[in-house]
Amino acid sequence: MNWLLKIAAFRVLSTLPGGSKVYHWAQQYVTHSLVATRERVSLKIEIGLLYWDWLERNAVVPLDGSHLDFGTGWHPSIPLLYHALGIDRQWLFDITPLLDAALVRETRETVAQIVENPAWPARLKLRRPLLGPLPADADWRAYLRGAGMEYVAPYGAAWRKLESQADLVTSTQVLLHISRAGLREIFAHIFRTLKPGGHFLATIHLRDLHATPQNGLLPHNHLRYSPWVWENLVNTGLMPYNRLKAPDYRALIEEAGFIIRGWEVEPATTQEMEAFLRTPVHECFAGYSRDDLSARHLFFAVQKPAC
Ligand SMILES: C[S@@+](CC[C@H](N)C(=O)[O-])C[C@H]1O[C@@H](n2cnc3c(N)ncnc32)[C@H](O)[C@@H]1O
Repeated sequence: MNWLLKIAAFRVLSTLPGGSKVYHWAQQYVTHSLVATRERVSLKIEIGLLYWDWLERNAVVPLDGSHLDFGTGWHPSIPLLYHALGIDRQWLFDITPLLDAALVRETRETVAQIVENPAWPARLKLRRPLLGPLPADADWRAYLRGAGMEYVAPYGAAWRKLESQADLVTSTQVLLHISRAGLREIFAHIFRTLKPGGHFLATIHLRDLHATPQNGLLPHNHLRYSPWVWENLVNTGLMPYNRLKAPDYRALIEEAGFIIRGWEVEPATTQEMEAFLRTPVHECFAGYSRDDLSARHLFFAVQKPAC
């Protein structure tokens, strides 16, 4: 679909009562973007292992610790993996309830196909078998709870109860959807939720996710627009993007009181850099370096001071 048409449809939907339900329906039955395909789930398992390996390399393996997955989405792939890796207590946070029995069942089946394959390279890391299949007609929340996983969506009231409870917080491709002010608040909550010495690990796309090979948009198309145009004509409540860059995340993380332990910014490819140099960049981005603006992805690992 043409990019502008897609944006217009999103904007209309986001203003309609029940628009998010229609969006969800379209994701399920039109775009099929919620199906727990092997490709989608494998990608998340890889990210779960990227976090895990970072923790192992840095000698902080919370094998019997507690984990908060901030922004779980439609496939609880990482929580299911972490349960099999030995984590006993997990909170699955989302801004709005997205999971249901079908998604949990389907995700579990796909995770099983991956991690139970004898050729899967991380098999030896598992400390127990993957949680069994979700029985027909079972309550999916009770099923997750039975394995120490609590689905909390929305989560506003839960922060206070979880103060100093988590060893690890992870967030996978969520923070890019939250405004600077929202992140400031959330980072403060995550800081309070972690135990002293606990870790917060996240992955964040920095490139323009509206740009695809099909629609021909330049990979940095989002840099063209003023804040007003972006917020009032492009961004929608259904799928907002904050356009923050690595230095913005770094400043917010430091402001919250975290110590930065790992900070990996994936640069643009040569081809993307060539396209970036042809993109008219709005003056509101004048304070950033060329590398900051063209970067593709950020992974960070930060720690709450031990005392
Ligand atoms: C692109 S999906 C990623 C989901 C999942 N982490 C994954 O990697 O498959 C973005 C997720 O962020 C959630 N989200 C957006 N804003 C949020 C907020 N303020 N607090 C928590 N979750 C939020 C959405 O509901 C959605 O589940």
